[in-house]
Amino acid sequence: MTSPTIVIDLADVEYKTNPWPTYVRLREEAPVYYVPEGTWDGQDFYVLSRYDEVALALKDKKRFSSQIQTQGYLNLPMLVNRDAPEHTRLRHMANKSFNARLVRTLGDWVQGIIDDLIQEILAQDKVEFVEAFTTALPLRVVGGMLGIPLDRKADLRRWSAAVMASFAVAAGMDPDEAPGFYEDIVEFGNYMGELAQARRGKPNQEDILGELVAQNEAGDMTRDEMVTMAWSFVAAGHETTMNLLGGGIHMLLTDDALAKRLTAEPERTKDFIEEYLRIYSPTQWLLRRTNEDIELHGVQIPKGALLHVVLGSANRDPRKFDNPDVFDIDRKGLGEHLGFGAGPHFCPGAALSRLLAETAFRSFYPILDKLSIDPNDPPRLRTTQGSYGIARMGIIVNR
Ligand code: HEM
Repeated sequence: MTSPTIVIDLADVEYKTNPWPTYVRLREEAPVYYVPEGTWDGQDFYVLSRYDEVALALKDKKRFSSQIQTQGYLNLPMLVNRDAPEHTRLRHMANKSFNARLVRTLGDWVQGIIDDLIQEILAQDKVEFVEAFTTALPLRVVGGMLGIPLDRKADLRRWSAAVMASFAVAAGMDPDEAPGFYEDIVEFGNYMGELAQARRGKPNQEDILGELVAQNEAGDMTRDEMVTMAWSFVAAGHETTMNLLGGGIHMLLTDDALAKRLTAEPERTKDFIEEYLRIYSPTQWLLRRTNEDIELHGVQIPKGALLHVVLGSANRDPRKFDNPDVFDIDRKGLGEHLGFGAGPHFCPGAALSRLLAETAFRSFYPILDKLSIDPNDPPRLRTTQGSYGIARMGIIVNR
């Protein structure tokens, strides 16, 4: 059998904004696909696109490693870039700082932030929605939990973009596409260090920063680990949640039947969110390295090989989901998508982002008829590698 030729150009805008046809070919013709010299610095990689192999790579920590960067300035002590036992220790601390109790107590505060943002939107004739809402909400919430004052929100946005760029560079993006990102993440690190210093010896305010400082004071966490943990929360929580919020509101404004149904049955919002995460996974792919030689679907993958683990394709695998390209909040196995990953690195922010999205969507139902998409500023998709979502969308406020 000759191997199929499927072009995977990570920098190609078409692959970033409409990857679905390529995913179909990958799943059907080459479930383990070898791309020689596919990253900007000429590394080979293998693409896994079916549900079963994607789940395997995420869950089997013995054979698949998350430590993508092993040297150089991007080898940071970040959760996503570490394996057991270091990952287990850091993750335990992340879970402590970010536990379900904390998330459960946030409801009223989150609702207050959403109400303020909606009031600000309704007071204008038109808004750029990503700026006005989808970026503002996760940054205010995560920033607030980290003790970052609102007047630093412009900096926080810049820092968040810089940490995202560092992930993209680690994943193979040319660093020249994000000039200045390293200086920005160093600046953010220094600022978080100062915030933590100012909290020392004070009572724990039971926010994330308070928990991180408490663990640092107890000698369980170094300063560098504390700062990188804060980076991880800001970066991992911002762009992903913003993609979910922007895409969800776009669907509500363009699909009348769906909007009517959810307005009548707001308790189905949870299912709407899960189905959105399945069909338009905000994180489209993750990276892993093999810890040993592995054979999958007859392809020999050598030890140390780089893998692109495509959640966005797994979530549309017809072997797992019936009619996978159809958006259906009544489908069976709704929660079995891999949008938040799986296994030891499963997203610790899942509960928080579900809370933000559910509170946000439910708050928009009563005012959907006041909002419409601005035909002069239609939705534009992001072109960040490995993520899918709306980068810009004009909305008109009808009176
Ligand atoms: C819709 C929103 C979100 C999506 C789709 C999402 C997706 C993911 C995925 C797929 C992973 C797995 C990474 C891997 O296996 O390598 C992950 C990990 C992570 N997420 Fe999220 N995430 C979201 C929101 C958040 C939020 C709100 C936060 C925090 C404020 C957060 C913090 C993290 C962190 C720290 C990790 C690393 C965990 C580890 O490596 O152990 N995420 N996320």
